[in-house]
Amino acid sequence: MKDLKKIYPRSGDYQTVYLQNVITNPHIEVGDYTIYNDFVNDPTLFEQNNVLYHYPINHDKLQIGKFCSIACGAKFLFNSANHTMNSLSTYPFPLFFEEWKLSKKDVTKSWDNKGNIIVGNDVWIGYETVILAGVTIGDGAIIGARSVVTKDVPPYTIVAGVPAKEVRKRFDESIIAELLQIKWWNWPKEKIAQNIEAIQLGKIIQISEK
Ligand SMILES: CC(C)(COP(=O)(O)OP(=O)(O)OC[C@H]1O[C@@H](n2cnc3c(N)ncnc32)[C@H](O)[C@@H]1OP(=O)(O)O)[C@@H](O)C(=O)NCCC(=O)NCCS
Repeated sequence: MKDLKKIYPRSGDYQTVYLQNVITNPHIEVGDYTIYNDFVNDPTLFEQNNVLYHYPINHDKLQIGKFCSIACGAKFLFNSANHTMNSLSTYPFPLFFEEWKLSKKDVTKSWDNKGNIIVGNDVWIGYETVILAGVTIGDGAIIGARSVVTKDVPPYTIVAGVPAKEVRKRFDESIIAELLQIKWWNWPKEKIAQNIEAIQLGKIIQISEK
């Protein structure tokens, strides 16, 4: 069984955390074994340093699957970062409601709401990546270092750059389909442990035969 409360997966390494065990915000959900590494700031401060413009008033969610690897400085930019463009001015008048004698309840009219950020399972998010509100990243995807992800990323697709564009698929379509059916990340820990070698060697047949 996994120790559900453990923060640091490696003895003596305080730069890498099991992310779900440092999350307190009910609007952020992280799956088992997903790791965050930070060698600049304290990785336990992920919510504060990496999930930005994420105000409870919007009820928007960050959902990250199991077995993701999130590199140092990756940032998730939520809806309050999007000054509204439906107005003649991008100045956030509703936010400064006292100054302009506006109604406090209209604060959210300052920004456009593009929605939640959803990250699948077994996703590798590169160094200092920026992921924008409303984006869904599929299982098994890879996001290159310093990319800005503005659009959805299909499963098992490598994207990179600003804005992030497809570099290539990780596998043939048939293997991707099989992996998406197997969903090894949902197996019990014991079964994953038995199959680590096959997973490591990229032997899809060995995995599916077990
Ligand atoms: C995205 C990545 C995985 C691709 O690796 P790869 O398949 O070996 O890619 P290649 O080096 O063959 O590059 C393929 C193309 O993508 C481009 N590319 C690769 N990484 C890029 C990046 N981060 N940003 C922009 N373009 C990138 C290359 O220039 C190349 O372009 P071209 O086809 O026009 O020549 C890798 O480059 C990367 O960014 N890794 C993340 C590393 C990281 O952040 N680690 C953190 C610690 S966990």
